[in-house]
Amino acid sequence: MQELAKTRTFLVAVASGQVIGTATLEGDYVGSVFVLPSWHRKGIGKNLMQSLEKIAHTNGIHSIQLGASITAIEIYLKLGYTLGAKSYHDQVGTTFHMTKTLWL
Ligand SMILES: CC(C)(COP(=O)(O)OP(=O)(O)OC[C@H]1O[C@@H](n2cnc3c(N)ncnc32)[C@H](O)[C@@H]1OP(=O)(O)O)[C@@H](O)C(=O)NCCC(=O)NCCS
Repeated sequence: MQELAKTRTFLVAVASGQVIGTATLEGDYVGSVFVLPSWHRKGIGKNLMQSLEKIAHTNGIHSIQLGASITAIEIYLKLGYTLGAKSYHDQVGTTFHMTKTLWL
């Protein structure tokens, strides 16, 4: 996390002194979106994504993108992202390109 934070905006969600969620932004690219399973479906991921979107917009970015795993597509669709092309990368496997125009 410390290495990534040197080149990206790195947000963490914290509860009782424990990191329970992360999300990063590098230019217009969102990455490292994870929430501890015991905290799923409590709005943490949505909060992290909305915070990143505000930061991106403040930075003059009007459209952001990410590579979604197949299990996360529905979640990003609910957050207003549009589904694009499927691709494969050695390190992360199959992902789906998703974008969102920021009208904040
Ligand atoms: C993706 C992830 C970060 C979402 O975090 P979360 O805190 O559980 O998400 P939220 O509670 O903020 O939910 C955001 C929206 O997605 C919906 N949602 C969350 N989990 C869902 C699921 N499994 N299936 C369908 N919808 C889901 C919520 O209902 C909510 O929609 P709403 O705003 O219409 O109510 C979390 O599931 C996770 O860490 N998954 C494993 C890692 C991963 O796949 N990361 C993404 C890599 S691209």
